[in-house]
Amino acid sequence: MVTDIDDAGGEAVAAALEPCALYRRLDVRLESDWESVVAEVLDTFGRLDVLVNNAGITGFENGPVPHDPEHASLESWRAVHATNLDGVFLGCKHAIGAMRNTLRGSIVNISSRSGLVGIPAAAAYASSKAAVRNHTRTVALYCAEQGLRIRCNAVFPAAILTPMWEPMLGGGAEREERMRAITRDVPLGRFGTADEVAHAVLWLASDESTYTTGSEVVLDGGLLAGTSARPSS
Ligand SMILES: NC(=O)c1ccc[n+]([C@@H]2O[C@H](COP(=O)([O-])OP(=O)(O)OC[C@H]3O[C@@H](n4cnc5c(N)ncnc54)[C@H](O)[C@@H]3O)[C@@H](O)[C@H]2O)c1
Repeated sequence: MVTDIDDAGGEAVAAALEPCALYRRLDVRLESDWESVVAEVLDTFGRLDVLVNNAGITGFENGPVPHDPEHASLESWRAVHATNLDGVFLGCKHAIGAMRNTLRGSIVNISSRSGLVGIPAAAAYASSKAAVRNHTRTVALYCAEQGLRIRCNAVFPAAILTPMWEPMLGGGAEREERMRAITRDVPLGRFGTADEVAHAVLWLASDESTYTTGSEVVLDGGLLAGTSARPSS
């Protein structure tokens, strides 16, 4: 089941996967949407094996607004948390309920490198992604203590070239320079791809990772490994 609030984009993904996929609108902020789509998944497919909590926003979707700790508005702070954190909470809640039918499943939450380090220009994004990290552990431990074989893990991408970057990269002659500036500090020297994230998610979703829960996979081209800068001789 492919879900989104971008109906055209979601329909296109489901069409490309036909006959394996359906698209349904699911606004991750709305509990009623989770209830109806999870019920439809159980009706249509008989069970829920995997949930990937992937929906996320930076807060810059409609152009540049202050998102630093001093100038961000409460409204914009809450809007980012509503999608990135409330959405993950609701997804986990309703997936656990559905997965109780089979006593097993895999939940994969998409956090971010921004949830592991401070990001002065994107405070709400960083805060929400850090909370996703800890909620992942809580869900993993909760399911384990309930005797459920429901695993919950998080992935931490950074600098993956997707439409999320468009408002920050812009167009025109300066786009290439902005891309170079972003990847300058990435040890592998490039943006990552959505496929590279998907491979890690697939592993966590699959029975290849049945001993992994409450755990973390970082996909950041080496950013968090430190620095390869050397003093000049
Ligand atoms: N691209 C990166 O560099 C990067 C880095 C770290 C983490 N992430 C995370 O990866 C995930 C995917 O992001 P992406 O880079 O593909 O960005 P994207 O903007 O291309 O995709 C995000 C998707 O979420 C959907 N969405 C937004 N609000 C929603 C809502 N309320 N309900 C349902 N769907 C909603 C959007 O329509 C869009 O299809 C996000 O959680 C993001 O925070 C991305």
